[in-house]
Amino acid sequence: MQQSRQAVSGADGHRKGCFVLSGKIVIVGGRPLRGELPVYGAKNSVLPILAAAVLTSGASVIKNCPALSDVGASLNILKYLGCGVTFADRTVTVNADAACGGPIPDGLMREMRSSIIFLGALLGRFGSAELSAPGGCEIGLRPIDLHLDALREMGARIEESHGRILCSCPRGLRGAELSLSFPSVGATENILLAACAAEGTTRIYNAAKEPEIEDLAAFLIKAGADITGAGSAEIVIRGGKPLTGCEHTVIPDRIAAGSYLAAGAITGGSVTVVGAEAKHLRTVLPIFRAAGCEVTELARGIRIEAPERLTAVKYIRTMPYPGFPTDLQAPLCACLCTAKGTSIIRETIFENRYKHIAALTRLGADISLESGCAVIRGVDSLTGADVEAEDLRGGFALLLAALAAEGRTTVRHTAHIERGYENVCAVLQAAGAQIAKE
Ligand code: EPZ
Repeated sequence: MQQSRQAVSGADGHRKGCFVLSGKIVIVGGRPLRGELPVYGAKNSVLPILAAAVLTSGASVIKNCPALSDVGASLNILKYLGCGVTFADRTVTVNADAACGGPIPDGLMREMRSSIIFLGALLGRFGSAELSAPGGCEIGLRPIDLHLDALREMGARIEESHGRILCSCPRGLRGAELSLSFPSVGATENILLAACAAEGTTRIYNAAKEPEIEDLAAFLIKAGADITGAGSAEIVIRGGKPLTGCEHTVIPDRIAAGSYLAAGAITGGSVTVVGAEAKHLRTVLPIFRAAGCEVTELARGIRIEAPERLTAVKYIRTMPYPGFPTDLQAPLCACLCTAKGTSIIRETIFENRYKHIAALTRLGADISLESGCAVIRGVDSLTGADVEAEDLRGGFALLLAALAAEGRTTVRHTAHIERGYENVCAVLQAAGAQIAKE
């Protein structure tokens, strides 16, 4: 089959796979942040929604899309498949009518590990899919056994060889009763997408309940899917309905919102995170209050007023939603470095998500890792140093610590941070931070 392939460029000039660890940000700390910090559309919502567009006929208009390198990587995959794609003023239009299946090149897959989210949509649309196994990343092994087991239950034949995943379902996908051993976000999303195209009914037990799951389901329902229970542990999809392009506005990014609240907290500042949804942060806001901040829910967002010095928070454990989110573990870790007293944080979701601790220690923090927990003994102050970002959320944690540190900090490998925080320097600068990208 002649396949139309459009030129593929690096998401934003840098290449992943042979990920060029680029970017450098310099911060002179010690200034309380004041004013407004805007939050844009949720990265972890728009990525599966872009994959879902492959299942639709006609054009979809997806609004409130953040300009992030991970979004660029997903758009590159859609273009490679032959979809019509435009992206301007935070609005993406996707028309998948001309899309054709076929192997996704390794280089494209390696631009973003969560490209595995295309698997369910490609299987559902084309009856086959070939892409690279995402492999691990900075925070853990990131297995996809739950994704593959579920798709096999739905009739897919899946072979893994030489780092590639080859899937086919010559007789189409069929609905199934699926019970997840862990409420995996990605597995729930891949099942949702495949189940929309499957003949019959699919039930997911122990489904992930994140707001991003609800947002993906909202997009699919607008496109014509029959889905009930999204956002709860049990989701029912009656598949086989034709899906047509629709208009959808992506929910705000709750992790960016929590990260910017942390920026106000650690600098003793007073900021309003505009666009943040308090209902998505029900187990996060109380932590900032326990640390001594005043947190007010406003119609336009969330306001945080922090004391000069935070109070340690005894024990926090990351959990699947609605528990405390693993993606805010590193930012919170940074916040508590200068709190009065000792805080303990236990990361229960990813096995290697403490890589920011070494760099925080270089900035003067007193943190030890004890039986799987980060034990953070608050110090009076941090001091600037040269550090390197190791991953997305850990990298943001270093920016937070640098904002509070005395003197100058250089954070390298900030391409990690740009995957999830749009215009991070401009956003923080507008609230008074002395920060610049070099
Ligand atoms: C999504 O990753 C998010 N990424 C992550 O955000 C987030 O941390 C995570 O959900 C948890 O909330 C996107 O949405 C693009 P999981 P995902 O499947 O889907 C194990 C960020 O910083 N697991 O819920 O990969 C896995 O090892 C990123 O924005 C299996 O064992 O997360 C982990 O321990 C980081 N087998 C746990 O489940 C599987 O088949 C949670 O993974 C799948 C997962």
